[in-house]
Amino acid sequence: MPGPARVIAIDGPAGSGKSTVAREVAARLGLDYLDTGAMYRAVAYEAIRRNIEPDDAERVAELARQLELTVAAQVMVNGTDATVEIRSPEVTRAVSVVAANPQVRHEMVLRQREWAKAHGGGVVEGRDIGTVVFPNADLKVYLTADDGERANRRTKEMLDRSYDQVAAELARRDHLDSTRAASPLAIAPDAVHLDTTSLNAEQVVERVLALLSQP
Ligand code: DC
Repeated sequence: MPGPARVIAIDGPAGSGKSTVAREVAARLGLDYLDTGAMYRAVAYEAIRRNIEPDDAERVAELARQLELTVAAQVMVNGTDATVEIRSPEVTRAVSVVAANPQVRHEMVLRQREWAKAHGGGVVEGRDIGTVVFPNADLKVYLTADDGERANRRTKEMLDRSYDQVAAELARRDHLDSTRAASPLAIAPDAVHLDTTSLNAEQVVERVLALLSQP
């Protein structure tokens, strides 16, 4: 018999290992996994595609409310598979402004809560999951890693960018994500903080699973 709906919130900055860890924890627990960053990326992608300026708050908010969006192994945006395109440097540059738009956040948070209801809980990854989206999550984990290590990890993923470019881009996004007015990146008081700098993904997954089995 399935257990009660469980939500596991995994937050942290880019390159902290969130996606790899969240996906694997979900697989081991038989839960679904939601990448909420992909939702903000999808809004930024569609804005660019329609020639809407990312900082045109009203038009981008309207676009977000109208967006047909499914985020799973594939990211479908208004009927188009945008799984690869939402990771492009152009979208990455635009997404922080879109994610700072309070109306866009409001819409995405509603959809994230609906997703969890429909999926019987899940492992949800982002920046404000433990603080805003699911303040009553069963477990909140906040992952960090040294700036240099995060840039190293991202450089390995992005074959066409140098370490310096990636490090500068990460620093810019960290700054925007943590200083914006609406739901800035922050650690929830009841989150478990894990520094992943010297851990591999498997070690982080095991620590998260161990936290769940604690009484
Ligand atoms: O995790 P990511 O790099 O794909 O996230 C893309 C952007 O979206 C990033 O600038 C932070 C933002 N984001 C957010 O503000 N809130 C979330 N829950 C998830 C991502």
